[in-house]
Amino acid sequence: MSNTSTNQIWQKVTSVDEIPVLGSRIIHAPAGQIAIFRNSEDEVFAVLDKCPHKGGPLSQGIVFGKTVTCPLHSWNIDLSTGCAIAPDEGCAKSFEVKVESGVVWLNRQELDTSHG
Ligand code: FES
Repeated sequence: MSNTSTNQIWQKVTSVDEIPVLGSRIIHAPAGQIAIFRNSEDEVFAVLDKCPHKGGPLSQGIVFGKTVTCPLHSWNIDLSTGCAIAPDEGCAKSFEVKVESGVVWLNRQELDTSHG
């Protein structure tokens, strides 16, 4: 179970069940619009919903393994780092995620830090 100090670091944002498999769910935070992805292994990733290429909505991309394909120009973004897969370059901010008993938590400090 979480104790008080844990809850100061982590903020509950959604549950795994509320994220479509191979899809995502958006949350809004001071850090910006964040896409929470779930893959076929029920792994959860959180990345700023802004493609490093031209800001496309990654949340609307297709998830495959640990990557998402941007719907605009099909760059593949590594969900664990937020970075484009070579030969493309650039990174979207990725967020630390903790999943515990089906609940998805994000690092409170990261959520509260604006990234422009
Ligand atoms: S905006 Fe994502 S690939 Fe161009």
